[in-house]
Amino acid sequence: MSFLSICTTDTLKSAALALKNGHLVAFPTETVYGLGADASNEEAVARIYEVKGRPADHPLIVHIASMDAIAHWASDIPEYAITLARDFWPGPMTLVLKRSDLAKDFITGGQETVGLRVPAHPIALALIKEFIALGGYGIAAPSANRFGAVSPTTAQAVEEELAAFLHEDDLILDGGACLVGVESTIIDCTGPTPMVLRLGAITPLMIEESTGLVALESNPSSIRVSGSLDSHYSPKAKVILDVVAVAGDGLIAPDQIPTPNGVIRLAAPSTIEEYARVLYHALRSADQQGLEVVVVLQPGGDGLAATIRDRLQRSASK
Ligand code: TXA
Ligand code: MG
Repeated sequence: MSFLSICTTDTLKSAALALKNGHLVAFPTETVYGLGADASNEEAVARIYEVKGRPADHPLIVHIASMDAIAHWASDIPEYAITLARDFWPGPMTLVLKRSDLAKDFITGGQETVGLRVPAHPIALALIKEFIALGGYGIAAPSANRFGAVSPTTAQAVEEELAAFLHEDDLILDGGACLVGVESTIIDCTGPTPMVLRLGAITPLMIEESTGLVALESNPSSIRVSGSLDSHYSPKAKVILDVVAVAGDGLIAPDQIPTPNGVIRLAAPSTIEEYARVLYHALRSADQQGLEVVVVLQPGGDGLAATIRDRLQRSASK
């Protein structure tokens, strides 16, 4: 059976109802597709872990519709976090804040903090609003992939990856391909200055320009951010960085790099934004074509290029 549904006002309403009734709804965001559940429903959230095959002590991001919902989920919010929320929400940024009593252990992985994000995708926002109209407070959603695999950037990729684990009443909302293509920047806002836990499209420079504070980059070992594990974002094919591709290899490289004879070109992005947008789809297509090796030429520069290199280094380390 197919779980895919094209978005109409009616499907959004039934998706919100499915969430309220404890089912799972995968939905598009501007970064990657998320696998959503009612963030206040312990059993529904437990199913996310089952479907992803993810360890239960990894915290989830709660997706909210606007800054107004911060106070429900978090407490002791520093001024600079409000500034970041004003500047970059809705958008590809997750704020880690001290949790309120309503952010339970099953969301926070037993930690004293909660991750919050207002996504910029119209379908995600409309879904959260419908869900709130039914009495909900937020949608918990990790990326809609199996633990350790590449995040999906299309509804078809979600279905290929998760259909075998979904139940009859679960849904996948199809909103086309994600525009950003890499997961949100995660910023720990529990200290005196912002600390970047995961790189993303909101860069350390943007954080500094917004808050006037230097954003530190974390040593992830003390915090359970699964995207910070060394081996992550991995396709089945072996990813090898910055070598010359030989016949039979897949190749992901900027468009000015020619494709050697016999090499299967998986992506030829012409800008850094396009590189981020097509990367995960290209890695997935390597697996679909049964390739054993994907050679990736990393982009140079900072900002989004640094985010891409961060993900590539993790997908190559296995
Ligand atoms: O772009 C995104 O952030 C996507 C879309 C769906 O919103 N979501 C996403 O979720 O990437 P996930 O679970 O695949 O990655 C979120 C990361 C996880 O590694 C999790 O451990 C970390 O965020 N995280 C969540 N809450 C946290 C917290 N309170 N403290 C530290 N890390 C947290
Ligand atoms: Mg993930």
